[in-house]
Amino acid sequence: MTGNIKKHPYLHPYDQCTLDELAKKYNTDKDSDRGGYVYHYETHFSPLKNKSIRILELGVREGASLRMWRDYFRNAVEVHGIDIDQRAEELNNEDGLQVTIGNLDDENFLYEFIEKTPKFDIVIDDASHKINDQLISFRNLHKLVSKGGLYIIEDIEDIDSTRLLFKELHSSCEIYDMREQKNRFDNVMVVYEF
Ligand SMILES: C[S@@+](CC[C@H](N)C(=O)[O-])C[C@H]1O[C@@H](n2cnc3c(N)ncnc32)[C@H](O)[C@@H]1O
Repeated sequence: MTGNIKKHPYLHPYDQCTLDELAKKYNTDKDSDRGGYVYHYETHFSPLKNKSIRILELGVREGASLRMWRDYFRNAVEVHGIDIDQRAEELNNEDGLQVTIGNLDDENFLYEFIEKTPKFDIVIDDASHKINDQLISFRNLHKLVSKGGLYIIEDIEDIDSTRLLFKELHSSCEIYDMREQKNRFDNVMVVYEF
């Protein structure tokens, strides 16, 4: 028998992983058993999965979610985190991760970060979960979101009385309220598209 041998394109094991599988692998509470945010992330992020994106997460703790983003967006050119905790600096030694130490409440720090950093396709706020901090971070860091990019805030407390505040930040505001499904008082996430 003659003919061309059809070559299968190389598939990396993570190409077939869902975000939830990666969330569980690295043990971030965004997974389906806890926060459940992975479902909404998968909806918004799957069109970007193979793109050479830049992603920034506010609040990295031990790096679980940063590792999840790195493995999900395998063609990402930058997976960057900001945290106030000096221990997060160690993540800079890990392949594909970049961390800046700083206080997100400090507008001087935010100003300097914005001045020296190119735009991101995705910004996620999973830092202090305090409403005032979330608003300060958004008002400053939304300037870093590229056209068509996403800014996401996790774990919003008291959404019933703050809904308007978050809606007023930008007209694209989409609120995902999962408090009843997950029985967590702050299981609410907001997505803005620029
Ligand atoms: C919920 S944890 C992040 C979890 C991580 N995103 C994950 O899913 O694996 C919140 C992090 O935000 C950081 N944080 C809290 N307040 C902050 C602030 N004002 N500036 C910078 N980081 C802050 C904490 O040090 C902590 O590491």
